[in-house]
Amino acid sequence: MNSAIRWSAEAIWEAVVPELPGFTVEVLPQIDSTNSELMRRARAGRLEPVLLVAEQQTAGRGRLGRDWHSDAGAGANKAMSGSLTFSLGLPLSPLDWSGLSLAVGVSLVQSLHPDLRLKWPNDVWLHERKLAGILIETVSLGNTAATRYAVVGVGINIKEPEATGLATPPAWLGEVLPGVDAPQALLRIAAALVRALKAFEVHGFAPFQTGFNERDALGGLTVTLSDGTTGVAQGVDRVGALRVHTAQGLKKISSSEVSVRPLKPLPYENL
Ligand code: BTN
Repeated sequence: MNSAIRWSAEAIWEAVVPELPGFTVEVLPQIDSTNSELMRRARAGRLEPVLLVAEQQTAGRGRLGRDWHSDAGAGANKAMSGSLTFSLGLPLSPLDWSGLSLAVGVSLVQSLHPDLRLKWPNDVWLHERKLAGILIETVSLGNTAATRYAVVGVGINIKEPEATGLATPPAWLGEVLPGVDAPQALLRIAAALVRALKAFEVHGFAPFQTGFNERDALGGLTVTLSDGTTGVAQGVDRVGALRVHTAQGLKKISSSEVSVRPLKPLPYENL
């Protein structure tokens, strides 16, 4: 690695390896996408637990087939990355996979700052603007139906993005944690994220339900579902399904393909 950015790879490794034997930390100056790389490795049979960090992604991917652009940050400085982009890959065998991305979101916001909120299913918001996104993909291991190699990808804006031309730009971590750079943010997040994934493997989403609802950005808001139905969002249930009180009664939304919008358009939808 030949980088001006100083990553705390060893400190992260020391905190995580007791929980995750065989764990390694890898930092790359550039790659297409950390998720794509770990998915390629898993499909080639490389299933060891790894935290793969990229200082720059050339083809970052978001949910629902969207691109994920990481910004160098206004006034870009080589020793400071404008965003944090990483993927954590590990074999997981929970009884029920429902709510995994929500549990990851809960872990991230709890590690970072009390002002951060979660927009179901897995966006991290700050002051009603998107700060971070989560993309989880899995590869079947074939041997047992229950175990899969999970790739948990996280992208967080750290510095103020360069002018986007948008009326409302995305949020960035420096708004609430000035001076915290990408390596420091990763150090705050990594070990707790691994613990959260291990807890999820044993107990499922239930232990994260309260944490999600405490940080729920949609709670009490009138939302519109993709089928046009409107209702009032009422938090998530024990498996992470969004509860929406509609004229037809309580609806539970579990498919992440269903988009849920507050009635007023969200600023980041202009992105
Ligand atoms: C979203 O909000 O749509 C999810 C964005 C996830 C972006 C991260 S950045 C690290 C990892 N590699 C990717 O290509 N995507 C995820």
